Amino acid sequence: MRQYDINHLRTPCYLVDLGLLRSNLELLADVQKRTSCKILLAMKGYAAWSTFALCSQYLCGTSASALHEVRLGREYFPGEVHLCAPAYRQDEMDDYLQLVDHIVFNSFTQWRLFRDRISRADRPIECGLRINPMHSEVKTKIYDPCSPGSRLGIPLDQFRPDELNGITGLHFHTLCELNSDSLERTLIAVEQQFGRFFNQMNWVNFGGGHHITRPDYDIDLLCRLITDFADRHDAQVYLEPGEAIALNTGFLIASVLDIVHNAMDIGILDTSASAHMPDVLEMPYRPVIVGADLPGAKKHTYRLAGPTCLAGDVIGDYSFDKPLKVGDSLVFTDMAHYTMVKNTMFNGINLPDIVLYEPDTDTYTVQRRFTYEDFKSRLS
Ligand SMILES: Cc1ncc(COP(=O)(O)O)c(C=O)c1O
Repeated sequence: MRQYDINHLRTPCYLVDLGLLRSNLELLADVQKRTSCKILLAMKGYAAWSTFALCSQYLCGTSASALHEVRLGREYFPGEVHLCAPAYRQDEMDDYLQLVDHIVFNSFTQWRLFRDRISRADRPIECGLRINPMHSEVKTKIYDPCSPGSRLGIPLDQFRPDELNGITGLHFHTLCELNSDSLERTLIAVEQQFGRFFNQMNWVNFGGGHHITRPDYDIDLLCRLITDFADRHDAQVYLEPGEAIALNTGFLIASVLDIVHNAMDIGILDTSASAHMPDVLEMPYRPVIVGADLPGAKKHTYRLAGPTCLAGDVIGDYSFDKPLKVGDSLVFTDMAHYTMVKNTMFNGINLPDIVLYEPDTDTYTVQRRFTYEDFKSRLS
């Protein structure tokens, strides 16, 4: 890992390394080049818009889930703006029609509701349907769109071949943090069920959940799957990863505020699992801390916890070579995705600063520091 000069940074802060981000983007751009697919940045996973100018040099556009993301993509990311959500509000459709290039519907009812308005729009908009092959690859239930009872996408028994007039593409999103072997099995299921409709389509969106920038990801297989699919169906393939864009490009740097004892040593930090890294509790998972190990592996073990009132605001148990002291800094890795987009000011605790690091010039830019006004403006 690169040595960062973190002593002058105020904690907590998210530090995004533009060099690492560029490496991910280069890899994704290479997939586009090898396959002619188009890759979109899914803003639900990463939306640090001060880096969008950089991302747009490599990627074809953005994928949004709701109006604010659509606006952000249109304002800051030159390229296509795609929209995919479980349902759309009638009072937001006029705004969407001004801003989006693709809109994906999650049901035939929604498609029927909006298709006339879309056909009257004064800009061309591609319409698609989200399909659900009900083929589960994701083991964590809350992240599996294919589990029984899922509302995400149209299963085959609900599909209406007689209502495809005006539909130019299909979309499926069924993966989460998975390798291309999962995509291979998914494509088999998708084609077995929906294959006969693909030849009527101009494009197919393979969704997100492709962990393309992970070191063990099988990129050759991904490229082969995309190329074969595109050739078989004469369709433009889109991918819309969120996590893979910013995977392993950022850190959350925090400090120890106090150390208390209750059956074990407990470090209270100036960062919170609940407020600043909610996936630690939601997924749940154990983030990596630079220089720390599993409890007991090193000499000094601590439970690390947040400063909120939530008893379960616990990041995990970690061991260190030296005893922790008040004021010590801790560096959590892989904190650029699904953090800034999901964090909250629960308990009135401030959000971490957003800092960009440019390795070419060795400069740190505090891009955003949050204030009381940010907290107050979300309430009334
Ligand atoms: C429709 C859709 N597209 C793309 C994504 C991005 O997925 P990931 O960040 O796992 O790549 C998601 C994530 O939930 C999604 O629901």
